[in-house]
Amino acid sequence: MTSSPATARTRVAIIGAGPAGLLLAALLHRDGIDSIVIDSRSREEIERTIRAGILEQGTVETLRELGGTRVDAVGHRHDGIELRWDGVGHRIDFQALVGRAVWLYPQHEVLIDLLAKNLADGVDLRLGVTALGIDGAETEAPLVRATGADGTPLEIHADIVVGADGSRSIAREAVTGSLTGGYFREYPFAWFGILCEAPPSAPELIYSTTQRGFALISQRSPEVQRMYLQCEPTMDPAEWSDAFIWDELQARVGGGLHEGTIFQRDVLRFRSFVAHRLRTGRAFLVGDAAHTVPPTGAKGMNLAVADVLLLHRAIADFVATGSEAGLDAYEPTALQRIWKAEHFSYWMTVMLHAAPGATEFDERRRLAELELVATSAHGSAFLAEAYTGWPLRG
Ligand code: PHB
Repeated sequence: MTSSPATARTRVAIIGAGPAGLLLAALLHRDGIDSIVIDSRSREEIERTIRAGILEQGTVETLRELGGTRVDAVGHRHDGIELRWDGVGHRIDFQALVGRAVWLYPQHEVLIDLLAKNLADGVDLRLGVTALGIDGAETEAPLVRATGADGTPLEIHADIVVGADGSRSIAREAVTGSLTGGYFREYPFAWFGILCEAPPSAPELIYSTTQRGFALISQRSPEVQRMYLQCEPTMDPAEWSDAFIWDELQARVGGGLHEGTIFQRDVLRFRSFVAHRLRTGRAFLVGDAAHTVPPTGAKGMNLAVADVLLLHRAIADFVATGSEAGLDAYEPTALQRIWKAEHFSYWMTVMLHAAPGATEFDERRRLAELELVATSAHGSAFLAEAYTGWPLRG
């Protein structure tokens, strides 16, 4: 005999305590709208998430306006990036081109801030709770089936359910009709990422492409740096020795890197994905549950924030007036930005990486594209506008 599940009731049930779910809960709380956020992970696991480090200007403004962010104390404003090929750097000056900037503020710092804010505000955050599925998405009384931290069944009844549960979303099934339903593209390379103890090697990020492959020199803090090397998608992170990694990084940027102890290695697969649908009835997808981008354009978390701003406004209108106009507009409006970000991430990726089997023609064309982007004010402005982020709505 199975025991009958414990039940809870809220306005908005949010699956996933990543940046999207936590931001949505915080924005709703500010409006006096209650939510329950569930996540199978513990607080420590969430705060240890290693992800990208770049925030668009609009993302920073959103976090500042919400309050409780340390982005101005701990983060660093970057007014440009460097594109490098044939060993020569070309700076893309965001301030001069579009009057905007980005911030180096790693995702785990955003998560630490948002968790602390939601906990201090008394938001109903249930960690260690695993979502199993959504029932009744197409009705006015959807519910989330879950397993509590102690293994007992739990049902959360809500007016609206939001799947903010990342690229392996379980919410996707109720919204799209399948766990994987979407437009999908895979790339024939990946990034080998390291974290190392070293001072920054350059004031800004360096995106460098060579005949040996691509490298990105990013940062985490004055003491810790993040760097990536293009590699095979099937590569085992233990395969390369530290000495090989440093030689390869130095060779791919033309030397000059500060080396240090490598204390974390991982391989990032390159995928593009947009779910076939972002809404069914009262169930919605945001963030990585709705889309994936390859990391080259640093768009992942920023796109999640843009989704959440739109959906938050729609839910607030719905709660205040009963109007579903905003909810109806969520999918088509969100998709406009999503597909632009998909294009930008794809474009940066293809421009900066030699694909296996590329011909001499392909490579010469690719370098000409880089040359055009870096030396044309219009080409550079296109990159700067997209990288720093298009205006946010909502
Ligand atoms: C990172 O710091 O992890 C990072 C920065 C820029 C990117 C991708 C990743 O384009």
